[in-house]
Amino acid sequence: MKKGCFVTFEGIDGCGKSTQAKLFAERCGAAGYQVVATREPGGTAIAEKIRSLLIDPAHSEMGSECELLLYLAARAQHLREKIEPAVADGAVVICDRFQDATFAYQGFGRGLPLELLQSLNAFATGGNNPDLTFIIDVPVETAFARMSAMKKKQDRLEAGGETFFRRIREGYLSLAMASPDRIQVIDGTASVEVIAEQVYSQANKCGFFA
Ligand code: TMP
Repeated sequence: MKKGCFVTFEGIDGCGKSTQAKLFAERCGAAGYQVVATREPGGTAIAEKIRSLLIDPAHSEMGSECELLLYLAARAQHLREKIEPAVADGAVVICDRFQDATFAYQGFGRGLPLELLQSLNAFATGGNNPDLTFIIDVPVETAFARMSAMKKKQDRLEAGGETFFRRIREGYLSLAMASPDRIQVIDGTASVEVIAEQVYSQANKCGFFA
């Protein structure tokens, strides 16, 4: 694998991306790579505090502009404090969500202009993009059925409803079409083991285990 790389996992809530990010991290660790597993929003003390503000269902009055800026603030800190130093140190950084979530949720989901998101995100990241991204794609009905089976209390974003999540899923698929070299779409309806195998073999094809 390339020394020092940045891999992200994306998809709608309930798609199974966190499980896959964890399995990929374990597999890379077992193969002898130095691995840093992290998540957005979050990953550092400051960004985890911002996460609490963002997902708290009590904050139903939060506007899209405030939401966007909080996600970007968390990202700016997370990237500089944790991701960039780890990549520079030669680690494989595996992040559960990153910038594509902002385009999918705040852009396609909330309807904020994509050009504005491009420039604000570039400011937050300094233009530092992931090397490889997996979108774990499932129909919205599947994701909702899984979430209700887990009987977990919905966070503020998850309470958005089916139409909101349909826009987000479509958004993710258009992002994948626009960046075919970086973004791999994986069918998230297969079993956990089959998906993990596909993730690993795509990473291989992309030269990550060369
Ligand atoms: P998680 O449940 O995957 O940890 O993410 C928390 C929520 O934040 C999830 O509903 C997706 C949302 N989100 C955005 O809306 N924009 C973003 O930029 C990120 C990173 C997450």
